[in-house]
Amino acid sequence: MKRVITYGTFDLLHYGHINLLRRAKEFGDYLIVALSTDEFNWKEKQKKCYFGYEKRKALLEAVRYVDLVIPEENWEQKRRDMHEYHIDTFVIGDDWAGAFDFLREEGVDVQYLARTPEVSSTQIREDLAKVKGKASGYGKV
Ligand code: CTP
Repeated sequence: MKRVITYGTFDLLHYGHINLLRRAKEFGDYLIVALSTDEFNWKEKQKKCYFGYEKRKALLEAVRYVDLVIPEENWEQKRRDMHEYHIDTFVIGDDWAGAFDFLREEGVDVQYLARTPEVSSTQIREDLAKVKGKASGYGKV
């Protein structure tokens, strides 16, 4: 069985995330998502999530491509995770291109996938903030 892992925040789960998860699963048979905890997001990325960890985890567990969700709590755990979870392939969006090449030293295939254009959790948050208070006018369909 080939095992794949990906890392991320996955707040306000959107179709860009689903595209990433679908393509990640195609690299193997078992997909693990290491989901950034609220503390890690805040301390390391200065990001405050709309949905807390348990809600983001439940959403990911409902996605057919995802087999297991584990917490991402620090930057250092990746090398250890590759061995603990017997990972064959590490997958992440190309906004991180090159950043995790060092995992090849652990015998893992590292893949950067093209991001889906024109959608991100930050963009959704900003667009909704703009229309707040208006009766209608959500810009995108
Ligand atoms: N991702 C993607 N296409 C997008 C948005 C995200 O392929 N349009 C991928 C990222 O490259 C990453 C994973 O989905 O591998 C989780 O990304 P995350 O940072 O949680 O999502 P974003 O929408 O980019 O969130 P933010 O705006 O907070 O950075």
